[in-house]
Order: sequence, then structure tokens, then C-alpha cells
Amino acid sequence: MSERAAILVTRKLPEAVEARLKRDYRVLLNPEDALYPSEKLLALSRDADAILACHTEHFNAELIDQLPERIRAIANFSVGVDHVDLEAARARGLIVTNTPDVLADATAEVAILLMLGAARRASEGERLVRSGEWNTWSPAFMVGTQVTGKRLGILGMGRVGQVTARRARGFDMFIHYHNRQRLPAELEAGATFHDSVEDMLPHCDFLAVHCPSTPETQDLINAKRLALLPDGAILVNVARGNVVDEHALIAALASGRLRAAGLDVYKNEPDILPALRAVTNTFLLPHIGSATRETRDAMGFRALDNLDAIFSGAEPGDRVA
Ligand code: 8YV
Repeated sequence: MSERAAILVTRKLPEAVEARLKRDYRVLLNPEDALYPSEKLLALSRDADAILACHTEHFNAELIDQLPERIRAIANFSVGVDHVDLEAARARGLIVTNTPDVLADATAEVAILLMLGAARRASEGERLVRSGEWNTWSPAFMVGTQVTGKRLGILGMGRVGQVTARRARGFDMFIHYHNRQRLPAELEAGATFHDSVEDMLPHCDFLAVHCPSTPETQDLINAKRLALLPDGAILVNVARGNVVDEHALIAALASGRLRAAGLDVYKNEPDILPALRAVTNTFLLPHIGSATRETRDAMGFRALDNLDAIFSGAEPGDRVA
């Protein structure tokens, strides 16, 4: 029997996922969950046939170029693959996979949480209660805006966007969306399609960013586009920070043009802009969209299914390069 493939695992993964890894492969785990700088990643990859990576590792062209010849694949523990230079990977003949589908429910939950949290001023309220500064009640106290019955614009109607739309219908929201391609009627489920972002924005009491980060979507939501939202709109982002121009967002929040924002992702995580921390009409989470026990297990198993396919000579189900 040929020797089992060796997998370099860059971060600490759920117990059940590591157990399956150990059962089926020779593995180099990261029990301390340290963040590997590029040099360390390169050094460790010398003895590996594939890397099981997270979005915290940045596989730019330079790093990909230096990967040892024997590395056949980067199997990501993420749906987003903006941390990997896919062109460089293709040029090098490297297989790259991701973990779609399995995090749609968890991430859509956070999109709804952000809408509710931002609209109902949850952060402000929590700060008041915890600090002991809550000393009054009046009809004008902590008044937010209702989510129920409002218009929700979804930018990027992929798997996560579609689940967010379904959940939002539970709040009687009217769904608008912009996507590269219009969905078939059964998936659209009555949502209004807009063939440009500009066309959709004036219809959004809430705007949920769900599109991937690609060269085309960098700073897509900039000052000019934010100005197209109705006064008092609320923006939530569970996709990637660099789809939104954060300086423009801060200005719109500070001026009150935007009522509030709910963010789970930022341009430079975890060192987010201090000005973003300073504006109070925000509900901020630390990139926890997929952080549920169920989803993290499923992401790991999906990454392993891809590795199993690769090392049995089959085409992996979630190949992106
Ligand atoms: C993951 C995510 O937790 O999968 C993604 O693209 O953004 C997150 O929900 C993270 O990427 C894990 O690597």
C-alpha cells in the first residue's frame, strides 16, 4: 500500500475533524493555533503533500511560487478564497478548494443578528446596562427602527444571500437583490431583481452585503453608492470588509445619513480602523459568521472530502482553481 499523504494543517480545527485527519492522513497539526508567518508556513510545507488552510493565511503569488514542488493542493477551511491568488495557483498547477454550502445557515443567522442589532441599537443598550449608566426610561429612550416589513436589498444572492432572504421573509421583509445572474423564479421566490447595484440601492432600507471579495468588488460600496441609499438606511456586512469603503461608511454613519451599520467583517482584521470603533451607531462582531459547532465541523469535513477526492485521483467537489 502506498504511503498516506501528508497534510499540513495551519490552524487548530474541531476535534472530530482532526480525528478524521489523523485516521486518514499523516498530519502536521497546530495544537497551539499559532498564526504562521510565510517563512514558517514554507518551512513546514516541505514535508507536506497538501495544505489545509484558513483565510488567515495569505497565499500570494510570491508564496505560491516558493511552495515545494510536492504540494499538490490547498484545501481551504473557508468559502471565501480571496486570501489565495487563484491565478498564481493555476499557473503552478495547484488545486485549490473551498467549503461552500455548509456555512450558509450560520452566516445568514449573523446577517439577521446584525440587522436586528443595528436597527434596535443593541450595542448601545448593552453598553448602558453593563456600565451601570442605565438610569432612566422614557418614551424617547433608545428608540430604534423596526426591521419588520422593511425593504432588504441583498448584494450577492449566492447561498448565504438566499438563506438570509428566506429568514428575512419571516420578518415580512420585501426582498430586492443584485447578483451577476438573475436567479430562476423558484429561487428568486418573489424577490425583485436589479441588474445593477445603482438601481437596487434606492430601494434598500437595509442593505446586506453577501458578495465575495474579488478585484471587481473592492470598495464596491463607496461614498457615491452609499449616497444612493435612502436616508436612514442600515448596512450590514457578513462577506468581506474590502467590499465596503470603510472611510466612506464612517462618514455616512457619523453624519447620520446612514442610521446604523452591523459588521462582522473588516478590511484589516483584527486591526480595525479606530474611527470605526469610535462611531456608536454600529453593531460590531469579530468575524464569527460561521462560528457554530455544527458549521465548523461541517466545514472541516467538507475540506476533508475535497482532500480525499484529490488523493484518490478524483476531481474534488469544490474546486476553485
Ligand atoms: C470562516 C469565512 O470562518 O468561510 C469564510 O469565507 O469568512 C469565515 O466564516 C473563515 O474564513 C475560516 O477560514
